[in-house]
Amino acid sequence: MSKQFDVIVIGGGPGGYIAAIRAAQLGFNTACIDDWKNAQGGPAPGGTCTNVGCIPSKALLQSSEHYEQAAHHFADHGIGVKGLSIDVAKMIGRKDTVVKQNNDGILYLFKKNKVTFFHGRGSFVKASEGGYEIAVAGAANESLVGKHIIVATGSNARALPGAEFDEERILSNDGALRIGEVPKKLGVIGSGVIGLEMGSVWRRLGSEVTVLEALPTFLAAVDEQVAKEAGKAFAKQGLKIELGVKIGEIKKPAKKGVSVAYTDAKGGAQTLEVDKLIVSIGRVPNTNGLNADAVGLKLDERGAIVVDGDCKTNLPNVWAVGDVVRGPMLAHKAEEEGVAVAERIAGQHGHVNFNTIPWVIYTSPEIAWVGQTEQQLKAEGRAYKAGSFPFMANGRARALGDTTGFVKFLADAKTDEILGVHIVGPFASELIAEAVVAMEFKASAEDIARICHAHPSLSEATKEAALAVDKRTLNF
Ligand code: FAD
Ligand code: NAI
Repeated sequence: MSKQFDVIVIGGGPGGYIAAIRAAQLGFNTACIDDWKNAQGGPAPGGTCTNVGCIPSKALLQSSEHYEQAAHHFADHGIGVKGLSIDVAKMIGRKDTVVKQNNDGILYLFKKNKVTFFHGRGSFVKASEGGYEIAVAGAANESLVGKHIIVATGSNARALPGAEFDEERILSNDGALRIGEVPKKLGVIGSGVIGLEMGSVWRRLGSEVTVLEALPTFLAAVDEQVAKEAGKAFAKQGLKIELGVKIGEIKKPAKKGVSVAYTDAKGGAQTLEVDKLIVSIGRVPNTNGLNADAVGLKLDERGAIVVDGDCKTNLPNVWAVGDVVRGPMLAHKAEEEGVAVAERIAGQHGHVNFNTIPWVIYTSPEIAWVGQTEQQLKAEGRAYKAGSFPFMANGRARALGDTTGFVKFLADAKTDEILGVHIVGPFASELIAEAVVAMEFKASAEDIARICHAHPSLSEATKEAALAVDKRTLNF
């Protein structure tokens, strides 16, 4: 006899577990199925984000930043450090503890919200009376029937043809987050978000890092001025980034290391010899084992589940959210979609504003933005005003000892409505929230300029950048 649910969520990453909690809060009898296993084979809900993504990468970024500060910047404060060392095993162990705290937190939230959790792989069996039959293959096999199904099966790292991940020498994000000792030479293919974050971690700890990027432009999706400023900072730190390359054969010599043949931007044949190679060239939607065909769930040519603006699939009462559908592969985007779908199932008006989804790259300097870039506005022919303010002129940034970068506002030339905010510099990840709120409420640059910001704080740079749109900064 199948167990009956109002809502069954397949996948317990940020899209899935949040959808399940919201559905349960709305009074639905809800199940969430997730197959991620911890080292002991037990459940580890939270998906890519919690296990091999957002959370562990930020833990290692924090540890390595402490090391970098102690090695190179404490002296400026009069603090001497002798015999500085890094215990990589302990750093990785701490990261694993942080991950486990998050896994346990989600299991607690399921209990608190009365979500029934199944540890195993969920797959479609057939459309049945009253919904869809879902099989769970795990420690115990189960048969479930749900009126509504939310698919949140996430994404996997994309491999380069002929260079499968072995997680020893050729690493995806998974292997990159558990390297056992600091590699002398680390190669990274792809100067996107993972490449820059993971490249930064190991560079700070002493690796010689070379990043090979296919595109001729650095961080092409980022505001040009921001990308330029960040590129300068990374070069100064010693992160080598080669643009416009074409990757050739990747070989693993008999004993150790990886050799990458590539053509440089000038057409020259080159070889990069490294101890480890991280391949971070984007991710692919994951529907492995979902048995989408059994019910005729439609996928596109990339393997993503086809959905409309409301996350509805081609099947009645089947929804899909997060990395497995179109749109940016970000945890907070997945979460917003999960909440919105649960609310739509309840007949409410779920809301996701794709124009105000913030992006953050957690390097040093941090890079964060929301809305349109200057190059996008130019391409659209939109009349705009720009204003920016450097952290160099901000008292709190000087006190912190981190004055790299700036805040930049782009506002409509006529109405002054904020169209984009771009930040490169300290705590950009936190500062961007104010810009998101402002844009969500359709604020003008003047609105931000007229709001009282605490002194001394980095947020004053945001206010000053808004003032700069009207060419009336007070401190610069
Ligand atoms: P996932 O998190 O991938 O979760 C899907 C879950 O479903 C997994 O547990 C999977 O095992 C399970 N599953 C799949 N198929 C089945 C099945 N048939 N049955 C049962 N379970 C199944 N985003 C940010 O916003 N900020 C960041 O700082 C950030 N850092 C990142 C760093 C790295 C190294 C990586 C790789 C990604 C990062 N991301 C970040 C992206 C973020 O991790 C994803 O956008 C997010 O995890 C997507 O959530 P999701 O719920 O769609 O899928
Ligand atoms: P990405 O899309 O950010 O970057 C991939 C890079 O690889 C691009 O610059 C691309 O031009 C380059 N590339 C593609 N094919 C190549 C090839 N054959 N040779 C050389 N370069 C090539 O993808 P990434 O870094 O793998 O991350 C995947 C996704 O995970 C991100 O897009 C983001 O959505 C998410 N993520 C988010 C983070 C955050 O929010 N801070 C952190 C890490 C990942």
